[in-house]
Amino acid sequence: MLETLEGLGQEAGEALRAIQDKSELGAWRSAYLGRRGKITDAVKAVGTLPPDERPAYGRRANELKRALEAAYEARAGELEKQSAVSARAADQVDVSLPGRPPRPGRLHPATRTLREIYRIFAEMGFQVYRSRDVETDDFNFTWLNMPPHHPARDMWDTFYTTQPGVILRTHTSPGQIHAMRQYHPEPIRVILPGMCYRYEQITARSEIMFNQVEGLAVGEEITMADLKGTLVDFARRMFGQGRQVRFRASHFPFTEPSAEVDMDCILCNGEGCRVCKYTGWLEILGCGMVHPVVLAYGGYDPAIYSGFAFGMGPERIAMLKHGIEDIRHFWGNDLRFLKQFG
Ligand code: PHE
Repeated sequence: MLETLEGLGQEAGEALRAIQDKSELGAWRSAYLGRRGKITDAVKAVGTLPPDERPAYGRRANELKRALEAAYEARAGELEKQSAVSARAADQVDVSLPGRPPRPGRLHPATRTLREIYRIFAEMGFQVYRSRDVETDDFNFTWLNMPPHHPARDMWDTFYTTQPGVILRTHTSPGQIHAMRQYHPEPIRVILPGMCYRYEQITARSEIMFNQVEGLAVGEEITMADLKGTLVDFARRMFGQGRQVRFRASHFPFTEPSAEVDMDCILCNGEGCRVCKYTGWLEILGCGMVHPVVLAYGGYDPAIYSGFAFGMGPERIAMLKHGIEDIRHFWGNDLRFLKQFG
């Protein structure tokens, strides 16, 4: 019986030394020292021996068990150290490998379009004027000639805050009032870019947030001819020198007269296609001569000063320019879309 025990001890010791990978340790442990392990069984077997053999056998069996447990801990420690060493070796930098090129980011298509618009207007002497996204009802509506309850307010679906009278701007036009109040009675030539917000159903054509670029010129003897000249020139610089531009009478409460500007469809050259809905024309912006009431709210005497204003949507313009069919791509954060620009 003692011999079998010694043989078993040897077998276990050899099996343990043969283990090269720490993942195999668990199996060894349960095979020998586990609840049904061979050594555990051998310790229990003491009960089957004649009483005079029990003390010697029992002592040796327990000794072996403890020795194997210690050997197990030692081997586990060794293997742990080995695997740390080899992991470090595997981690070493191979300085002869070619480097991974950094992937430069790029500008968002809306930002690119905005910058193109700034560049064109800068050449015409317009400076960028930054105005806030969070506005009061007065700036967004009342001082743009839309008193409370005026039905024209229905043109803009508004986000309200819990603070009465504080809203997210529905267009960049409130910036007109800020610029006028800052500069009056000096002449003004600015563009006002930035995010606008409307409480709308999100569809392929409309988003709840989008950029606008407002333009404002105020001074003495500014006429509709200045407005037309500026915008025709803009359309041609933005979309190509041959562009046809037309002004269509329209209505905005803060301009009088008001117009919408169309240009011949850049995709079909005015022949008629799906994008221009077979009209041959694409609407690019709204504009007009600043309403006397708005000039007065801005601090200018409408008997002396006049001005023009316009507002356009850069995402819309980018859509026309690049044939983008769905405005939701702009804020969808899909790299497959964004990577196509720049
Ligand atoms: N604010 C108008 C809109 O959002 C556009 C506009 C701006 C029209 C300036 C005329 C003058 O629809």
